Amino acid sequence: MLKTHNSAELGKEQAGTKVTLAGWVHRRRDHGGLIFIDLRDRDGITQVVFNPERSPQSHKTASRLRNEFVLQVSGEVSLRPSGTENPALPTGYIEVLADEARILGAAKTPPFNINDDLEVDEAIRLKYRYLDLRRPRMRDNLILRHRVYQYLRRFLDQKGFLEVETPILIKSTPEGARDYLVPSRIQPGSFYALPQSPQQAKQLLMVAGLEKYYQIAKCFRDEDTRADRQPEFTQLDVEMSFVDEEDILGLLEELFSGLAETVTPHLKFSRPFPRMTYAEAMERYGTDKPDLRFGLEISDLSDTATTTDFKVFTSALAGGGKVKGILAPGCGGYSRHQLDELGKLAKDRGAGGLVTISLSDAVTDLETLTMDMVKSVAAKFLNIEQIKEMASRMEAGGGDLLLIVAGENDIVSTVLGELRLEIGRRLKLAADDQLAFVFIIDFPLFYWSPEQGCWAAMHHPFTTPPDEDIPLLDTAPQKARSRHYDMVLNGNEIAGGSIRIHTSQLQRKVFRLLGYSDDEISDRFGHLLEAFEYGAPPHGGVAAGIDRVVMLLSGEESIREVIPFPKNQNAADTVFNAPSPVSAEQLEDLHLRLADESDS
Ligand code: AMO
Repeated sequence: MLKTHNSAELGKEQAGTKVTLAGWVHRRRDHGGLIFIDLRDRDGITQVVFNPERSPQSHKTASRLRNEFVLQVSGEVSLRPSGTENPALPTGYIEVLADEARILGAAKTPPFNINDDLEVDEAIRLKYRYLDLRRPRMRDNLILRHRVYQYLRRFLDQKGFLEVETPILIKSTPEGARDYLVPSRIQPGSFYALPQSPQQAKQLLMVAGLEKYYQIAKCFRDEDTRADRQPEFTQLDVEMSFVDEEDILGLLEELFSGLAETVTPHLKFSRPFPRMTYAEAMERYGTDKPDLRFGLEISDLSDTATTTDFKVFTSALAGGGKVKGILAPGCGGYSRHQLDELGKLAKDRGAGGLVTISLSDAVTDLETLTMDMVKSVAAKFLNIEQIKEMASRMEAGGGDLLLIVAGENDIVSTVLGELRLEIGRRLKLAADDQLAFVFIIDFPLFYWSPEQGCWAAMHHPFTTPPDEDIPLLDTAPQKARSRHYDMVLNGNEIAGGSIRIHTSQLQRKVFRLLGYSDDEISDRFGHLLEAFEYGAPPHGGVAAGIDRVVMLLSGEESIREVIPFPKNQNAADTVFNAPSPVSAEQLEDLHLRLADESDS
C-alpha cells in the first residue's frame, strides 16, 4: 500500500507515530511560513502541516499543491497546539508534521467545489459524477447503500435463503413497462429483452425446488424517469415455496425493522407495521401509498353536500360522484394567491375546481360560528348549518381552511390525496426522523383498460386470486380480489409482491382474460405453463426497490442521489455518454439498418 493509515485510524493515541497517508487535497491554506493541507481520504480529513524548517523539500512540494491534487505524505502524528483543536473533526486533535511529500496526480480546477455543500446544477454533477461522488454527502450515501446490501445478505442467509443469479439476456417479462431489447447477432431478426424483473425466473426456481431464493437484481424498464424511478434500478427479489401472505409480510417486517435498527438507528418507527386494505387507503388518503407520518384524512361530505343548493356539489352527486374534503390546519389566513396555487394543483390533477372555505381566527367554538367568520366563494350557496356540519366532520376550528372537491369518486380521492401531501409539505407535518411503514393488502386483481378493451392486471399476471374468488373470473372479474401486497414507507411504494398462480390451468385462464391469444400465450409464456405441469409448489414472493429504500433511509428526495451512475431525465448516462450511435460494422453484425439509412 502507498499508505500506512487512513484518516479514521488517526487520533490522540497515535501521537508520536510515523505515518504515511495518501489522498486528495481538500483545502490548502498558506500562512506565509507554514502551509496547511486538509488531506481527504474515504474516511475523512487529516490536517497536514508543511514547515519549511522541518522539511524544505516537502514544503516546496506543498507550495505547488492545488485542490484535488492526489498526494502521498509521510510524517509524524502530533497533538495540535492547544487552542487550535477542531472538535468537529474526528481527527481534530492531531495533525501530521510532513517530512516527505510526493504528488501522485495533478488535478485541473474541478467544475464545482468538492469541499463545500453548495448546490450545484445536477447536469454538471451527473457529467462529472466521479467528482460528485467525492463529496461527503454522496460518499455517505454509497456507504449506507453498502451497509444495506450487507445487512440484507446476512439476514437472508441466516434465514436459509439462497442467493441465485438469473439471466439478464432473457425473454421479456411483462411488468407494465416497455422492454429494452438487445438484438441477437447469431439469430438474425431475433431479440433478447432485458428483464423488467426476474419474475418468471424466480418462479421457475421454485418449480426447481429451491424453496427460498433471493437476489439483488438489476431490472430494466423503458419508462420515463422520475425522482423515484430509473430505467435501470435494483430490486431485492425474494421468492419462497409453501407460504401464505402472513409468512411474507412477517419476513418483510422483521427484515425492514432490523435493517432500520442496524443502519439508521437514529430513525424512529413502530411495530407491528399497520395493515390497510387498498379500498381503505384510497378512501382515507386518496392513494395506495399513504404517508402515515401525519393525519389530515379525507372526509366524505356528500350527505351534507346533497342538502345544499350549490350546483358544483349537487351536479357531482347527481352524476354518481362524491363531495369530499380535507383540512388545512391553520391555513385560514391563506391569501388569494396561495388559494389559487392549491386550486391550480387540484385542476392539474383532474378536478373541475377546488372549493375553499376559510374560517377566521375568531372562531372559538363551531357552535357559535357565524357567516361573517367564513370566507368562501361558495358561501352564498351554503347556509351556516351546512358549513358547521362540514367543518365539524373535518374537526376544523378557528384559523383553519377546508379544501373541498366534488366530482367522480376516483378523481376526488386522487386530487385530495395530492392536496393532502401538499399541505403536509407546506406545514412540514412529516417528521424527518420518522419511518412510517404500512402494508397495503386486498387489491383488486384486475382493472378495465379502455385503451386495450380488456382486463389489465393490477400488478402482474402471475398473481393469484384467493381460491374462493376463482369462480368470479368467469362471472365478474372486476370483483376478484388479488393476493397481492405492497409495502409503503413514508408515502413511497418500497415493495410489492404476491402469492402466485401455480397451475397452468388458472394461469392460462388469467392470460386469456388479459387479452392474450392462445398463440401469444404459448409463444410468451409456454415455458412457464409447461413448468407448472411438472409439480409446481404453491409459492409467493416480493421485490423491494433498493434505490427507494436507501433514498428514504438517507433522507434524500431522489433515487439519483443514491445511485452511483444514474440516468438523467432523458434516460442518458452523461459520464459514459450513453446511449450513443454505433459503427456501421456493429449494426451490420446485428443485421440492423437505421430507419433513415433504409429510407435513403
Ligand atoms: P414491482 O414492479 O412492484 O414488482 O417492483 C417492485 C419494487 O421495485 C421498485 N421499482 C422501481 N424503483 C426504481 N425505479 C423503477 N423504475 C422502479 N420500478 C419498480 C419499487 C417497487 O415496489 N416482479 C414484481 C415483484 C413480485 O411480484 O415479487 C415486481 O417487480 O419499490
